[in-house]
Amino acid sequence: MKLFDVYPLYDVTPVSAKGIVVTDDKGQEYLDFYGGHAVISIGHAHPLYVKRLKDQLDKIGFYSNAVHNPLQVELATKLGKLSGCSDYNLFLCNSGAEANENALKMASFQTGKSRVIAFNNSFHGRTSAAVATTDNEKINAPINKQQKVTFLPFNNITAFANEIVKGDVCAVILESIQGVGGLDEPSSEFFKKVEKLCKDHNVFLIADEVQSGFGRSGKFFAFQHHGIKPDIITIAKGMGNGFPVGGVLIHESIKASYGQLGTTFGGNHLACVATLAVLEVLEKEGLMENTKELGDYFLEKAKEIPQLKRTKGKGLMLGLEFDFEVAELRKKLIYEQHIFTGGASDKNVLRILPALNITKTDMDLFFEKLKIALS
Ligand SMILES: Cc1ncc(COP(=O)(O)O)c(C=O)c1O
Repeated sequence: MKLFDVYPLYDVTPVSAKGIVVTDDKGQEYLDFYGGHAVISIGHAHPLYVKRLKDQLDKIGFYSNAVHNPLQVELATKLGKLSGCSDYNLFLCNSGAEANENALKMASFQTGKSRVIAFNNSFHGRTSAAVATTDNEKINAPINKQQKVTFLPFNNITAFANEIVKGDVCAVILESIQGVGGLDEPSSEFFKKVEKLCKDHNVFLIADEVQSGFGRSGKFFAFQHHGIKPDIITIAKGMGNGFPVGGVLIHESIKASYGQLGTTFGGNHLACVATLAVLEVLEKEGLMENTKELGDYFLEKAKEIPQLKRTKGKGLMLGLEFDFEVAELRKKLIYEQHIFTGGASDKNVLRILPALNITKTDMDLFFEKLKIALS
C-alpha cells in the first residue's frame, strides 16, 4: 500500500526534536519557527510533558466515555481557572475541525436554525459544517456545499446587520486572529457590535481559538484582547503540544443533554494529561508573559528588515508581509538557513508560530538568517 498523496512535502525528515530545535535523519538541526503549524506550544519534548505522558501510559491510556475519568474534571477545572472562563463547560474531542463541527451543531440544536455567518479568508477545518464555513472553494466538495453559509468581510457592520436580521442564522463563527488566511483580525468595535447583534437575534457567537488560543496571542484567548464574551469557544492545536486533542467551551447558560454530542477517543486519559501538562508549564514558566514580551521583541527586530511591507498578528502568532510571494523565501529558509516558517493563503505573508518559550537569542538568530536569505 502507498500513502494517499495529498501533501506536497518539503524534503526534510525530522527524527528528533527538543525545545525549539528539530533534527533530521542526516543530523541537520532546524530552528522551529512554525511549531508544526502552531501546535508546539511548550517546546518539543518538554521534560514535564514527556514524564506526565509516560507515567500515564504506565497506568491507563484509554477508556471510553461510558465511565468516570477524573482527569477530564481536573482538566476542565484548571482550564477554566487559567483561561478566566470558569463559567463555561468543556466538551473534549480530538481536533480543531471536530471542535468547530460540534460548536456549530450546538448552535443549531439550541436555536433550531441552520444558516451560519462566517468571514472572508476563514479557515475552520475540513469536516462537514466546519469546511462549509471555510472560505476555500477548492476544499469544499459538493456534499459540503449543501450547508447554508454566508461569507462577509471583517469590520463591515452594515453588511453583518443586514444578514443577521433575516432571522435564520444559528451561529456566527470567527477566528479572533485569522491563521491560514494570513493574520487579519476584526477591530474591537466590530467584535463588540457583532456580540450585541448576536445577543439581540438569538444567534450563537463562536470564537474559533483553535490556533490563537492557549496563550499564543499573549492572552489565554485572542478574543480577550477585545473585551467580548462568546457563547462557544473552540480549542485544539497548542492545547496538546502535539498530542491530538480538541475541545469546545460551552457557556454554562447552554444546557447539555445526554447523547447530543459524543466521541470515542475525545477526552481520553493521555489527551487529558498532555493538556494538563501544557497548562502546568504555561502557568509555572509564565509563558503568556513571555509570549507578549517576545512578540513585542520580534516586531521591534522586524523593523531592521528593509524589504518588509508590514507586520501582522499578536503575541507569537505573527506574520511578515512582503510585496512578493514568499514561497521561494520559505524554501531558502528551510534548505539553506535551516529554519521552519509557515505560509498563508495570502501568498505574500510568512507566518511565524514558534513555541511560547522561545528566547531572544533564538529570535536574534532568526533575523540574522532571514537577512541572509533575503540578500
Ligand atoms: C483557526 C483554525 N480552526 C480550525 C482548524 C482545523 O484544525 P484541525 O486541523 O485540527 O482539524 C485550524 C487548522 O489549521 C485552524 O487554524
